[in-house]
Amino acid sequence: MLFLGTVNRVKINTPHGRSMLLLGGEMKDIEPLLPATGLFIITDTNVHGLYGRIFPPGVVLTVEPGEQSKTLGKAEELCGRLLQGGADRSSFILGFGGGVVCDLAGMTASIYMRGVRHAFVSTSLLSQVDASTGGKTAVNLGDYKNIIGTFKQPEFVLCDHRMLSTLPEEELQSGLGELIKHAVIRDRNLFFDISASMTKVLDGDPVILGDLIRRAVRIKASVVRRDPLEKGPRRVLNFGHTFGHVLEIYYRIPHGVAVTKGMLLAAELSAWTGDMPHSELRTLESLIEKTGMLPELELPANIVGMMSHDKKAEEGSINMVLLRAVGRAVVKRVPLQEISAFVNFYREGKKANR
Ligand SMILES: NC(=O)c1ccc[n+]([C@@H]2O[C@H](COP(=O)([O-])OP(=O)(O)OC[C@H]3O[C@@H](n4cnc5c(N)ncnc54)[C@H](O)[C@@H]3O)[C@@H](O)[C@H]2O)c1
Repeated sequence: MLFLGTVNRVKINTPHGRSMLLLGGEMKDIEPLLPATGLFIITDTNVHGLYGRIFPPGVVLTVEPGEQSKTLGKAEELCGRLLQGGADRSSFILGFGGGVVCDLAGMTASIYMRGVRHAFVSTSLLSQVDASTGGKTAVNLGDYKNIIGTFKQPEFVLCDHRMLSTLPEEELQSGLGELIKHAVIRDRNLFFDISASMTKVLDGDPVILGDLIRRAVRIKASVVRRDPLEKGPRRVLNFGHTFGHVLEIYYRIPHGVAVTKGMLLAAELSAWTGDMPHSELRTLESLIEKTGMLPELELPANIVGMMSHDKKAEEGSINMVLLRAVGRAVVKRVPLQEISAFVNFYREGKKANR
């Protein structure tokens, strides 16, 4: 069912905080939710250039675009700028941008004066389908992704899919990776709907995108409600991320592109361990082929060593998200030794196919 031009409100109520997602909404929908004074907007210079004219009244703090801004040093610098700008405990931080801005603004809001109110206007496809929802904040530590972070639910998240019209093509593709992820872990129908509308998705058709975003975000919201602090079932949202994070940092490629490659590797692992039939692997491959996002990347020599620093690794094994089928993900502890054996098998297979 398509919801044209209407704002869809989805609530995430958890014991640790409440969040209201405004899917398909516009800036006027957040006006009543913002404070009359004390608003600080964290954004990046790209988004500021494009959307600064529609920012609500407040102090604007910009950072450079991209992953390199997701550091503790940048969060500390922002805290300094907040203090200089007169922010106190009653101030409100609005993160206005993609996933980097949301992660960094959320992190800053959760540590400044032990926590101030915050919300997001989410502007990239990746942040609309994933990063801005669910209350995880993070910065990277050197070459390791999201090692420092907190849980803090944003009061609201505005996802206006019309803002995606200015998104560069590679960023649209990157977001598509996380959109597909939600379908692969939970919703086979959504998976085939994405596949059927791929041409329109890649053309940035706002109606189709708006509909798919709503459906993907509902999946994420339902998982987060059940497990807001990621103690168990929420781990399925990490499908593709254990391999993906290593590739993202190693090759400096966009997050969603790395996750897409990571999903394929995790699906191959699922077929290799016998958890999933090979035919399902081919189903996933054929959808990803349609996205034009099948980077041929050599696996880094020390990929397993790098994976062992992942947050999901404990005592020689790692919580991997595997598939039983497209639309059905499970979390399984896999010894790092077994992952090493799989990586060797994968490399040999690639060599043989050359
Ligand atoms: N917290 C979470 O639960 C979670 C989940 C998934 C991903 N993430 C994080 O999200 C980050 C990736 O997010 P991203 O892909 O949005 O990256 P990003 O924030 O770097 O945005 C990508 C690029 O698009 C630009 N941009 C954003 N919106 C735009 C628009 N409407 N028009 C034109 N340009 C626009 C940005 O300036 C940037 O150059 C990663 O750091 C990842 O770890 C977090």
